Amino acid sequence: MILETPRLGLREMTDADLPALRAILHDPEVMVAYEGALSDEESLAWLGRTKQRYADDGFGLWAAVLGETGEMIGQCGITRQRVEDDEVIEVGYLFRRAYWHRGLAVEAATACRDWAFENLGTDDLYAKVRSTNVASMNVAIRLGMTMRRTFTTHYRGVDMPHLAFAIGRREWAARASRAGF
Ligand SMILES: CC(C)(COP(=O)(O)OP(=O)(O)OC[C@H]1O[C@@H](n2cnc3c(N)ncnc32)[C@H](O)[C@@H]1OP(=O)(O)O)[C@@H](O)C(=O)NCCC(=O)NCCS
Repeated sequence: MILETPRLGLREMTDADLPALRAILHDPEVMVAYEGALSDEESLAWLGRTKQRYADDGFGLWAAVLGETGEMIGQCGITRQRVEDDEVIEVGYLFRRAYWHRGLAVEAATACRDWAFENLGTDDLYAKVRSTNVASMNVAIRLGMTMRRTFTTHYRGVDMPHLAFAIGRREWAARASRAGF
């Protein structure tokens, strides 16, 4: 395991995770912010990109598995992303619908946030959020992020207004010392 939280483990995805990955990426409600469910081909490409990120960067979106059963119920991790002309480090999170509203996304993303500041030299950690994705904004805010700027991405033939949420290393360290660790 790369990370463990009270209820979850985070580990690299493998080809064996494709069915669980598809349970997330083929659900149109989960994928609203991505302009709808992915196809078989698109989810295979998603897994391929994720494995390439592990090889190139040493990190990527990881499988979020239940500590009790090992079942993959989501994806959460760190990726390199672009916000307009800037390359940023981002925390990403997508969970199966049956596991929403339990604090699992925040639990996993908090561990990833701490991992990023502890293991990478980055001064800022971002979350790119589509302007309609309130659940994702709430996760970003619970991570201690604030909205830095707006920008537009072009994905699957659609212009998508986005918000760039972020937390700086200094703000993260201040939160950590307030929390007593
Ligand atoms: C973004 C996403 C992961 C957030 O999931 P979520 O269920 O809202 O987030 P959490 O699991 O952390 O749950 C937080 C909610 O659970 C509640 N909760 C229940 N038990 C909790 C606990 N033990 N600890 C913390 N929160 C708890 C919180 O009050 C909060 O409620 P709210 O949603 O009414 O504000 C989810 O909506 C998703 O997968 N969306 C599709 C993919 C996506 O858009 N990803 C983001 C791309 S930028």
